[in-house]
Amino acid sequence: MEMARSFHHFDELHPWIDRQHLLECTSVVAETADVMTFTFRSDKPAWFRYLPGQFVTLELPVGEEPVFRTYTLSSSPSRPLSVAVTVKAQPGSIGTRWMFDNLKPGVVLKALGPLGDFSFVRHPGEKYLFISAGSGITPMISMTRWMADCAPDTDVTFISCARQPEDLLFKSELEVLARQMSRLNLGFLVEGHEARHGWHGLRGRIDAAKLPLLAPDFLERTVFCCGPEPFMRGVREMLKGAGLDMARYHQESFQPAAAPAAEELAIRAGPAGSAGAEAARVTFTMSGKEVSAVPGQTILQTARANGVRIGAACEGGICGTCRVLKIAGDVEMNHNGGILDDEVDEGYILACCSRPVGDVQIEA
Ligand code: FES
Repeated sequence: MEMARSFHHFDELHPWIDRQHLLECTSVVAETADVMTFTFRSDKPAWFRYLPGQFVTLELPVGEEPVFRTYTLSSSPSRPLSVAVTVKAQPGSIGTRWMFDNLKPGVVLKALGPLGDFSFVRHPGEKYLFISAGSGITPMISMTRWMADCAPDTDVTFISCARQPEDLLFKSELEVLARQMSRLNLGFLVEGHEARHGWHGLRGRIDAAKLPLLAPDFLERTVFCCGPEPFMRGVREMLKGAGLDMARYHQESFQPAAAPAAEELAIRAGPAGSAGAEAARVTFTMSGKEVSAVPGQTILQTARANGVRIGAACEGGICGTCRVLKIAGDVEMNHNGGILDDEVDEGYILACCSRPVGDVQIEA
C-alpha cells in the first residue's frame, strides 16, 4: 500500500524547490568502511531538476545551532525522483559524523540548491577526461550515470584514484556502465596495496608517466578533476606542464574565496573622512536590529558581530546557504555561482559576499 501511495506519474509532479520542499531520507548504503550513500526523495511529491555534477547544502541539526554541509550529488538527473549524496567521514568531522550516526530512512532535512558549475553541461567538449581521487568521484559518477542513460556514445576516459583497492568507489558499477558505453574507458590507480588485495592494476600516484598510459590523447580532452586540494593541484600542474589548453581544465572546489586584503577593504570604504567612509546602517528586520556596518565588512560579518543568525557554509559565495532577502537598499555582491539570476531579480543576496552600499534592510 505504502509503495502504491507514493507512485505518481511524472507529469503530475512539480519541480523540487528548496524554499518549499524538504528531503526525506529513503536509504543508507555503506560503500566502504568510511563512505556512505544517502538517498532522498522530496517530502512532498516533486521531481529534482539539476545538472549532473551539481551540489546541495544540507542543514544538519547537530546541536542547538544547525551546521551546513555541502555535498555533490552522486545521483543522475536522468532519474529525477530521488537524489543521493555519497559522503566520506573525515576524521574530526561534525556534520558528516552526525549523518553517519543519525541519518536513517524517514529522517527529514532542509537542503539548499542544487547549485554549481562543475558539469559538462556548463563546459562541453568533444570528449572528456575525468580524474578523481577518493570521494571526489561523486560529480564524475553523476555525469557518467547521466551519459549512460541519455548519451551513451559520449567519449569518456575515467581515471579513478584511491589509497587502497577497497577505496575505489563505484568500481563495479563503472565496469557495468563501460559495457553500455562503448567509448567509456576506465583506469584505476591505487597508491598502496597488500598481497591480500590481489591487485594487479596500476600502482602509485598519477603522474606524467602514467597519464599517457591511461589516456593517450589526454591533450585533446576536456578535463574534469575532483579530489583533495593537493591532488587537484598536482593534476593541474601536470596537465599544464604537458601543454593542455587550461581553458579545458575544470576542477571542483568548495574552498571559500580568499578574504579581501585590508588595503582592498580600505579602498572600498573610501578615503577617511569622506562621505564614502560613513558607516552604512544595516537593519535586520526579523531580529529588530539596526546596526552600523564596519566599512568593507560583509552582511554576514555584520550580522555575526551583532548577534543576528544567518546560516553559512562555504563563506565564499559558492553554496547559497547564506541567501537572504534584501528588502531595501543596495549591496555590492561578488559571488561564485551560489545564487541564481532569478533569485537576484527577486531581491535575494548572499550575505557572505555582499557588502552594503549605503543603508540596507535585510530580512534576517
Ligand atoms: S555561505 Fe556559501 S554562499 Fe554564502
